[in-house]
Amino acid sequence: MYDNWETLERECMNCNKCQLCQTRTHVVFGTGNRNAEVMFIGEGPGENEDLQGEPFVGRGGQLLDKMLTAVDLDRKKNIYIGNMVKCRPPKNRDPRPEEQEMCIDWLRNQVKLIRPKIIVCLGRIAAAKIIKSDIKITKEHGIFFEKNGVLMMAMLHPAAVLRDPRKKPEAFEDFLKLQEKIKEVCDHTYEDIEE
Ligand code: URA
Repeated sequence: MYDNWETLERECMNCNKCQLCQTRTHVVFGTGNRNAEVMFIGEGPGENEDLQGEPFVGRGGQLLDKMLTAVDLDRKKNIYIGNMVKCRPPKNRDPRPEEQEMCIDWLRNQVKLIRPKIIVCLGRIAAAKIIKSDIKITKEHGIFFEKNGVLMMAMLHPAAVLRDPRKKPEAFEDFLKLQEKIKEVCDHTYEDIEE
């Protein structure tokens, strides 16, 4: 574990612990406020993210940004967004268990430095790895679990909502639940955005 962002980011950007390093364009380290109380975690970079080096910049990312804005969250101001796996799996296949295992320490280190109060997992794969392995995303999205003193919630993945727009209202409800929880347990998330 590194105790500072500079070393962590430098080492992560040069990672070659698994085979995904051979096909990546960019390592997608993560973005946002490193003092955030709320951290969003996705599965892994897709094509656009791999090309730009930023998480959630494709169509799914645009939808995510819209929903974030609706509850006064902003990836540049009061949250941090990262992925479980930092390099794009070819053809957007699911990251393999051994790739997840190799990569997860980067995320653990990010969580350790940020010390978020709330972690939101986007999609089943991230939720299964981070919240609980048998999570049923269709039933258990929007529910807060407490793990090691941190509140954790799974949300539907924005890509899944784009594939089935009928899911939009239930996806948005989770953002409202998140907003309520932030008001309850966070100190500065909604101050950070007002200046
Ligand atoms: N999907 C993810 O899970 N993460 C990204 O960064 C982009 C798409």
